[in-house]
Amino acid sequence: MDPRFREDDKIMDFLLTEEHLMIQKMARDFAQKEVAPFSMELDEKSEFPSRHLKKMAELGFMGMMIPTQWGGSGLDMISYVLALEEISAACASTGVTMSVNNSLYCGPISRFGNEGQKKKHLIPFASGEKLGAYCLSEPGTGSDAANQSTTAKFNGSHYVLNGTKNFITSGPHADAMVVFAMTDKAKKHRGISAFIVEKGSKGFSVGKIEKKLGIRASSTSSIILDNCEVPKENILGKEGEGFSIAMNTLDYGRIGIATQALGISRAAFEASVKYAKEREAFGQSISNFQAIQWMIADMATRIEASRLLIYKAAFLKDKNLPASKEASMAKLFASETSNFVTNKAVQIHGGYGYCREYPVERYLRDARITEIYEGTSEIQRLVIARHSLKD
Ligand code: CAA
Repeated sequence: MDPRFREDDKIMDFLLTEEHLMIQKMARDFAQKEVAPFSMELDEKSEFPSRHLKKMAELGFMGMMIPTQWGGSGLDMISYVLALEEISAACASTGVTMSVNNSLYCGPISRFGNEGQKKKHLIPFASGEKLGAYCLSEPGTGSDAANQSTTAKFNGSHYVLNGTKNFITSGPHADAMVVFAMTDKAKKHRGISAFIVEKGSKGFSVGKIEKKLGIRASSTSSIILDNCEVPKENILGKEGEGFSIAMNTLDYGRIGIATQALGISRAAFEASVKYAKEREAFGQSISNFQAIQWMIADMATRIEASRLLIYKAAFLKDKNLPASKEASMAKLFASETSNFVTNKAVQIHGGYGYCREYPVERYLRDARITEIYEGTSEIQRLVIARHSLKD
């Protein structure tokens, strides 16, 4: 048994606080009234959800866990996952845009940045005035993140970065990004450093914009660093600390993607229950058939299990306890659940589920990425197995 929980099995208060419930309600009202009605259109046009981000900034959703002195809302991670589930249930593309800004950009700057960096590169992002991104993957480096090809050389006055970053969420719209690059290749992962790179820096450009299967309203591109000049004060942490910063950041990010997957699952489930009650076949509602009921039961159970894994991982983070394994478990289970649930949702809807008139085909397309980005399901299993064998 996990030694952290041996003494007491009351590890979690399952009751959300009044404040949590208020945040959840505020997010749900906003998401259902102002985000959901446009999701289909944004998906069709592959249109970035800028219109929602402004309002989400006003609601304090773009830097939820960042202290108020640094432009954020100063809330806990449970509040964040509650809000993110609501946004993702309404629009998974808006969900990932929110998640990346909160956990992949603002998160590492708030934990590893110095005062000057926080003033300049955190306040406007946590308040939602600007948007951030995270550049780890490269054309030849996805799962094997330690094997970075991008280099950073200090030339006496600033760092010069060279390389291409791939599949960067919000890449074309981001005002700044946390970028990982090798400052000392001989040291392998201990030679990786993290930098804050601003759009408009000399040698920085946005590369190919991807056309995607799902989350089409989020924007994804490569980022080209061609002798890109980065001021020396923009190094995040010390030289060589980059890989550890990247991994620490992904512990939070994976809880975010698990939550995005949960939101997609919930939306698909709710649509399926509604449809099953309305649709008639053989002279009665299809919800009377056990074939449908069993699908609904399996969907409901896996969604609830996903939610509990996410809450547990977020709860541990809020208590400043290690949660890499739990974050990976939440991400693995919630993302596989979203693929299971959205598939069943299409099945319940039959031919209508395959057509764009109903939202479930979008949910199925949107769910697919949750098993890939911020660590594939295979990488999550690797992390879980390593921790389990070590425990
Ligand atoms: N927190 C802090 N440090 C950590 C850590 C964590 N969670 N996990 C590992 N580390 C440290 C280790 O302690 C070790 O440090 P030292 O050697 O200095 O002691 C170091 O990192 C190396 O650890 P490993 O030996 O475990 O490294 P590895 O090379 O075997 O890789 C891996 C581990 C889990 C496979 C990792 O490479 C990984 O997570 N890969 C997937 C990458 C990924 O998720 N990419 C997603 C891109 S971002 C994205 O998708 C964003 C988006 O736009 C939505």
